Amino acid sequence: MGARAGGALRAALALGLLAAAQPGPAARQRREAELFLEKYGYFGELGTGTHSPAEFTEAVRDFQRVTHLPLSGVLDAPTLHQMALPRCGTGDGESHAAGAHRASATRRRRRTTQHGGRWYKRHLTYRVVNWPSYLPQHEVRLAVKAAFELWSNVSSLVFWEVQDGPADIRLTFFHGDHNDGLNNAFDGPGGALAHAFFPRRGEAHFDSAERWSLRSGKGRNLFVVVAHEVGHTLGLEHSPVKSALMSPYYKKLGKDFVLSWDDILAIQNLYGKPSKGLAIQLPGKVFTHFQDWSTDLYGGDRQQRSLSAYYCHSFFDAITADTDHNLYIFKGSHYWVVPASSNASDPQPLQTRWPGLPAGIDACAWSQLSRKFYFFKGGRCWCYTGSTLEAGFPQKCSARGLPRHPDTALYFQQLRHLVLFKGPKYFVVSEETLGVEPYYPRSLRDWEGLPPGTAGALTHRDGFIYFFRDDQYWQFDRAKLQVVATGKWATELPWMGCWDANGGQVLF
Ligand SMILES: *[C@@H]1O[C@H](CO)[C@@H](O)[C@H](O)[C@H]1NC(C)=O
Ligand SMILES: *[C@@H]1O[C@H](CO)[C@@H](O)[C@H](O)[C@H]1NC(C)=O
Repeated sequence: MGARAGGALRAALALGLLAAAQPGPAARQRREAELFLEKYGYFGELGTGTHSPAEFTEAVRDFQRVTHLPLSGVLDAPTLHQMALPRCGTGDGESHAAGAHRASATRRRRRTTQHGGRWYKRHLTYRVVNWPSYLPQHEVRLAVKAAFELWSNVSSLVFWEVQDGPADIRLTFFHGDHNDGLNNAFDGPGGALAHAFFPRRGEAHFDSAERWSLRSGKGRNLFVVVAHEVGHTLGLEHSPVKSALMSPYYKKLGKDFVLSWDDILAIQNLYGKPSKGLAIQLPGKVFTHFQDWSTDLYGGDRQQRSLSAYYCHSFFDAITADTDHNLYIFKGSHYWVVPASSNASDPQPLQTRWPGLPAGIDACAWSQLSRKFYFFKGGRCWCYTGSTLEAGFPQKCSARGLPRHPDTALYFQQLRHLVLFKGPKYFVVSEETLGVEPYYPRSLRDWEGLPPGTAGALTHRDGFIYFFRDDQYWQFDRAKLQVVATGKWATELPWMGCWDANGGQVLF
């Protein structure tokens, strides 16, 4: 069992309560506190064994600074009480070392890049290796999914669950000592609730003897603790900001957002902002009701399919269709194909089909004239015949007047040209020169009823052009040159491959 960690916490609490009444065994109290401060990294990398009184005082002060207590440097009652509170078992590392004088941006950079590390990919798989026996498995699965989604909703990360086999991030429930060293042995209810490893080890461990719960009220909310530990597996260290999810201490769900500005800046520092659209957050209290959430999607083999159509549940980067009416949908470093009369393929890495293409493209168009794929990202463009990048690509297309970060690219049959849309303008582009034709750009008003900022467009076999933005589509009549219908694509356009998007199951 947690001979050092758990013992230290319990002793700290007991002694803290006793301290007022009687002198107490000061030497033992100091030793327990020393072990606690060692476990959580307050003596630096090298600090094990005994410490001088000056080092000890400094460590206590650092702890008091991180936990927003008066900086007395001695083991007073508030400090001992704080040491006994339920918390994350991962060390506080760099977060305390930064003095109050250092800018918090610098501190965060140090915290995350030097100590936390990061993943070099944006699409990560996770797996729940075992389940707490007394909670309904489907509720735990929803809670874990929501915990990952907290982070993916505010960054460029994308997660999906695998039910067996290898996974980038593994969540496991353990009892007591589990070969992570005695310092990391679990200590039963209270004390250390869980801990996790920084990238790219991908392990988060939870104390199976903790009183986990998925409701408000009794016990420790598993959703909050999973969300915190997932933060570590992504490279985030403890935050000194009290309201942060990455604060070492257990956070209660309430009307505030689960992530604070500090959490969001830290994750975006590592992985950037969501590729399109805004960061999405919900108030904490929403996450105390997993028992009410739809669970249909998560039984057995339906899980696999809801993942294959992952794009159905969020926005995508770009979309196009080829002459055989195969749809190509792009998101992050993956794409999906939806054949004319079938379900969506599994997500495929962009790199295998279009070597050299970066993740998170801005726009894509398939030309019916040349039968080539054109991709746009930033100021550059790529042109592929099959899987072969054409000679001379990528090119700096912005140098020839094409817009940087175009919203949407489309091969427009009427003009036998490519069209790029950007904000309130569109550009007609020659395929031969990839330059803008004379008299363009022009105002989007030429495309009556079309909003600015679409994510992608395609010409469907019914002859209409469909534009997409967030969860909406606009059906455009090529003859009338105007939008003739609009709606929600996931539920209203069966050919988008989102067969399971009906029935209110889109949320999770
Ligand atoms: C993430 O964003 C989606 C909308 O894109 C929303 O439906 C979902 O509830 C959000 N999840 C969390 C955990 O905030
Ligand atoms: C897609 O998969 C679902 C679930 O198996 C099935 O009911 C549906 O018929 C499939 N659609 C097509 C077009 O194959």
